[in-house]
Amino acid sequence: MSQTAPTQDELKILVAQAALKYVVPGEYLGVGTGSTVNKFIDALAASGIAFKGAVSSSLASTARMQALGIPVVDLTQVERMSVYIDGADEIDPKGCMIKGGGAALTREKIVAAQADQFVCIADASKNVAVLGAFALPVEVIPMAAPEITRRFKALGAQAVLRTVNGQTLVTDNGQYLLDVKGLQIADALFFENTVNQWPGVVTVGVFARQHAHVCLLGTAQGVQTILY
Ligand code: A5P
Repeated sequence: MSQTAPTQDELKILVAQAALKYVVPGEYLGVGTGSTVNKFIDALAASGIAFKGAVSSSLASTARMQALGIPVVDLTQVERMSVYIDGADEIDPKGCMIKGGGAALTREKIVAAQADQFVCIADASKNVAVLGAFALPVEVIPMAAPEITRRFKALGAQAVLRTVNGQTLVTDNGQYLLDVKGLQIADALFFENTVNQWPGVVTVGVFARQHAHVCLLGTAQGVQTILY
């Protein structure tokens, strides 16, 4: 009997389902952004788990949760969460990630910083040895974009302003996004700290301080749980 390999979409559903066991009844839950998280939001809404409310990392996730009847609470009303669940564009062997493909990196980092545990849900394509093949998103204050582009050029990388339908993308925070190609980020914490210091950088999409504690990785063999 022949078995076809699961599609990327099926792997996303698999890890989204697996993440439900990390939701703590009676507590607030941090919720990320992206296509994998969208599957998680759908699973959460269907699960009937009586959690206190969701703290959202983007306007898109807020809209999806509210449409499904999930109560969304503003982060200013919540001191700590035990769990934050989100996807990643890349995750390395230490649980450091590149995030921001969905442009929500700043709010994702803010919410993740108030959670005790970051649970990353990802399909196997996101698992890498070294971060950097995925163009690194960096949210910037618009007037600083040219100088930050030059700084990346000096590192041998190419930063491009993100556009949507020919228009410069404006984030949920009213800022611009650079996507940076040509990086190999071996020391993620050092890189994050360095770029964070550049004037005009709002958030660099390397998550080393807010690295994952657990990754639920969707593979053809099933969900692999990796602890960091
Ligand atoms: C959103 O800004 C991102 O950080 C996402 O978490 C990341 O891009 C993963 O998205 P997908 O689940 O859509 O691949």
